[in-house]
Amino acid sequence: MAKKVTFSVFRYRPDRDDEPRYVDYQVEIRRPGMMVLDGLNQIRWEQDGTLAYRRSCREGVCGSDGLNINGVNRLSCVTHIEEVSDRRLVIQPLPSLPVIKDLVVDLGEFLDKYFLVKPYLINREPPPDRERLQTPEERKKLDGLYECILCGCCSSSCPSYWADPKYLGPSALLNVYRFIQDSRDTGADERLQILDDRRGVWRCHTILNCVMACPKNLNPTQAVAGLKKALVSRRY
Ligand code: SF4
Ligand code: SF4
Ligand code: FES
Repeated sequence: MAKKVTFSVFRYRPDRDDEPRYVDYQVEIRRPGMMVLDGLNQIRWEQDGTLAYRRSCREGVCGSDGLNINGVNRLSCVTHIEEVSDRRLVIQPLPSLPVIKDLVVDLGEFLDKYFLVKPYLINREPPPDRERLQTPEERKKLDGLYECILCGCCSSSCPSYWADPKYLGPSALLNVYRFIQDSRDTGADERLQILDDRRGVWRCHTILNCVMACPKNLNPTQAVAGLKKALVSRRY
């Protein structure tokens, strides 16, 4: 008989329920290496079709299935069930983000902050006939920055983000640093102006939760340190 692991899943419909509740489901481990997303699919497809959660690529690429699993923010599609626990998993939506239904959160404000920092190449010089070139060394500076999949695991694990809903948060800050570091980009000044605020980089207190949470092993804290340095050199 297949082994079973209990999934204790957060259920909540804010339009209907007075408060959230946790529902226990038994998930069968039918093959080695089953992911948390496989377990959620098993529940939805075989036990309770009303359970809501997001997923798409199943490969750790689209960033849609960030969840809090036994207290840690992770992507459900690349998290092995048995690596978390062989007995019980408590599955909750990403902390501090408004719940739409069950495990689905509203990412609207999170994405607004991302767009606020102008996450695209700014260069008002006339474009060359072909592409804007970079040396291999210049390109290398983008490693560890361009890989962000906007899953929200970092920002929703950041105590400064919980405390101040206006704080841009580690994801937006890492993404702005990606463009400031790009040798083809000339928009650093206009971006740094947006960040030089107590809701910008100065709200980061180097607690490092964001680094621990990132499923792509990125380091938003280092990006924030780079931004602080750029702001200080700009001032003096
Ligand atoms: S290091 Fe900064 S951005 Fe990261 S969790 Fe801490 S306060 Fe938030
Ligand atoms: S920095 Fe990492 S945790 Fe944060 S949004 Fe990007 S991929 Fe997700
Ligand atoms: S489903 Fe796309 S990252 Fe997990």
